[in-house]
Amino acid sequence: MGKLITLGEHIVKNQDKFPYATGELTALLSGIKLASKVVNSEINKAGLVDEIIGQEGQTNIQGEDQQKLDVYANRIFKEALGARAVVCGLASEEEDDYVAYESEVCQNGSYIILIDPLDGSSNIDVNVSIGTIFCVYRRISEPGQPAELNDFLQKGREIVAAGYVVYGSSTMIVMSTGQGVHGYTFDPSIGVFFLSHENLRIPDNGKIYSVNEGNFPFFDENIRNYLKHCKEYDPASNRPYTSRYIGSLVSDFHRNLIKGGIYLYPATSHKPKGKLRLLYECNPMAFLIEQAGGLATDGVQDILDIKPTELHQRCPLILGSKNMVNELKRFLAD
Ligand code: AHG
Ligand code: MN
Ligand code: MN
Repeated sequence: MGKLITLGEHIVKNQDKFPYATGELTALLSGIKLASKVVNSEINKAGLVDEIIGQEGQTNIQGEDQQKLDVYANRIFKEALGARAVVCGLASEEEDDYVAYESEVCQNGSYIILIDPLDGSSNIDVNVSIGTIFCVYRRISEPGQPAELNDFLQKGREIVAAGYVVYGSSTMIVMSTGQGVHGYTFDPSIGVFFLSHENLRIPDNGKIYSVNEGNFPFFDENIRNYLKHCKEYDPASNRPYTSRYIGSLVSDFHRNLIKGGIYLYPATSHKPKGKLRLLYECNPMAFLIEQAGGLATDGVQDILDIKPTELHQRCPLILGSKNMVNELKRFLAD
């Protein structure tokens, strides 16, 4: 193994580059790290302990059946961050409204966090990799009082840190504080995340495309034409491309980040805004892909330039290798 640098040490080493480096962001990210270890431990037992897998019997504000692990992960991240008193508020896929922490010390926190505590829930019970997605903003409301809705409705361009945990064949945290994207791999034997992928960059070109082809009949014509293009035989342009779709955004994103590729969850006739949520799925992933040299668009504008209006609003998502996203944009312009 190369340099033995832990996630904590690497954050501290870089914290002087954080805007407003007060140590608070470092404490916040260590809260993410701790919660990731706790959730990882539960996920690894999911097959054994039936109170972990399966339906919670409730639905979330999205109208989706909450898996027990969704609710569990949400609680762990909410508690771990609340205990560190650096976030004054949290918004989550699994919370109807945002949570404004009530303690005075939290209300003096400078940051808010948005989180998808468990991404890829449909894969929990079939032992396919899942993840957690998060992004962090500085609060814009006055410190010393509860967080406000506008703290959470900032454009993705204002993100100060974003990342994901992928609970896969190995568990990794991949994140950026605006100085590139770095990957940290968990060593369960000593309970430490080690820097394993410094300055991750997505290749400008790729041949992997990730989409739920089952929605083909519901895509608009430009998207259908692009997907036909991906499947045409043309060795000169490295086609047909390769189709890879896991059904967990975090896992599809992570593979494409490493190998090059494009992920798309476009609008459909029955979901005109697509399925993915802007604030805690599209924005954090768009921040990361741009930090890694890629592009992210809703088909009309950069994801990070969208001004949010609601916590759980959805938006179409196309992101990945620069030249692949630009190729798709040419089909959208037709
Ligand atoms: P979540 O489990 O947090 O609701 O996210 C699931 C998302 C995303 O992870 C994945 O790429 C997409 O839903 C899969 O949707 P389809 O099953 O409709 O393809
Ligand atoms: Mn998700
Ligand atoms: Mn989720």
